Amino acid sequence: MLLELRGVSRRFGGLLAVADLSMTVAGGAIHGLIGPNGAGKSTVFNLITGVIPLTAGEVFFKGERTSGLRPSEICRRGIARTFQATTLFREYTVLQNVLVAAHLVTTPGLASALFWSRPYRERERRARDRGRTLLEALGLGPVASQVADTLPHRDQKALALTMVLATGAELVILDEPMAGLAAQEKAETTSVLRRLREQGVTVLLVEHDMKAVMGVCDTVTVLDHGVRIAEGTPREIQTNPAVIEAYLGADEPGA
Ligand SMILES: Nc1ncnc2c1ncn2[C@@H]1O[C@H](COP(=O)(O)OP(=O)(O)O)[C@@H](O)[C@H]1O
Ligand SMILES: [Mg+2]
Repeated sequence: MLLELRGVSRRFGGLLAVADLSMTVAGGAIHGLIGPNGAGKSTVFNLITGVIPLTAGEVFFKGERTSGLRPSEICRRGIARTFQATTLFREYTVLQNVLVAAHLVTTPGLASALFWSRPYRERERRARDRGRTLLEALGLGPVASQVADTLPHRDQKALALTMVLATGAELVILDEPMAGLAAQEKAETTSVLRRLREQGVTVLLVEHDMKAVMGVCDTVTVLDHGVRIAEGTPREIQTNPAVIEAYLGADEPGA
């Protein structure tokens, strides 16, 4: 298992937002985490990424305990947080953006000349190769030398995701990437998630849009009032009486 939550709880004052949650995310999967508003999805996201501390329980990533570590350390170990197009370097080319993300920028100047050693050149060559491979995989090969600012919005989002991958992230956690998107943009986001999976990246999709989740996920976990009420394939989840009850009973059913 790539990610494992063991008896994870989080209390906010008198409210138990996440209650003794155990779940595992298999490597290479798109795993959905759904539930009505207030179910605790974002809180789980924040607990995994270390943004807020756990009240109880433990989180393991690749068999090592990550709960209690700082967010930067958790990120360094390969868990990437949600991507945003606003993190792009607009005046850089697409490929340069990816190299920045991989912590490999070559600045032509004395300082870099000092480090112009063979191991460094070798490292940079590998980063460029990997960067180009990722760009091809996400459909950005043809625009690799274009300045990021000139890309259409859709390509900028794909570039932001490529940058996440260039950091070497093995698990990408996305919190409601479909929120506020039109149907066409949701479909594009879905295809980007599938391309990620093809690249061997695991996706934990925290999403309110049940329909979108059902279309793309391998496994779905359903939360209600901080409690895991169901887990299974999209087909199993859609016919699960407890899930139907949770959504029908909610003020706002899943879109
Ligand atoms: N920082 C916080 N302080 C107090 N209560 C919070 C905080 N964050 C979330 N909550 C509460 O925890 C519950 C779960 O919230 P959240 O994880 O955001 O749900 P979801 O993302 O599934 O809509 C909600 O009742 C919410 O009001
Ligand atoms: Mg939320």
